[in-house]
Amino acid sequence: MAYCVKEPPATRSRPELMRERGTEYLKSVMNYGSSSGMPNWGTSDTLTGKNIQLLALFLQHPIPQPPDMDQAEVRASWTLLETGQSPPEQPPAQL
Ligand code: HEM
Repeated sequence: MAYCVKEPPATRSRPELMRERGTEYLKSVMNYGSSSGMPNWGTSDTLTGKNIQLLALFLQHPIPQPPDMDQAEVRASWTLLETGQSPPEQPPAQL
């Protein structure tokens, strides 16, 4: 994955680095793979062209800032949906 391979210079965020690479380059690496070890997700039919397009855009998307809240504020913001059922004591199926 792009995020585990090379450390970009500290001055640029990873999305900035990905934007420098460009959508067509990112799609091509994901589609055909590379001789330095990236698998060919597209031509092996693992990912569709649409998936690859979405991933190429995702990699370039600015990282969203988490809200500046402490834990008490985060908990107060939750809307908990309760089913009224207790959680199962055993996994429902053996995989
Ligand atoms: C769906 C999952 C993945 C996506 C979306 C993805 C995406 C990418 C992209 C866009 C690049 C180019 C980054 C750049 O030029 O800076 C890249 C490079 C690379 N990826 Fe992935 N990757 C995925 C999974 C993997 C996996 C599972 C491996 C290892 C088995 C891998 C190994 C590599 C390597 C070794 C490179 C460097 C290739 C080079 O520089 O020529 N990737 N990946």
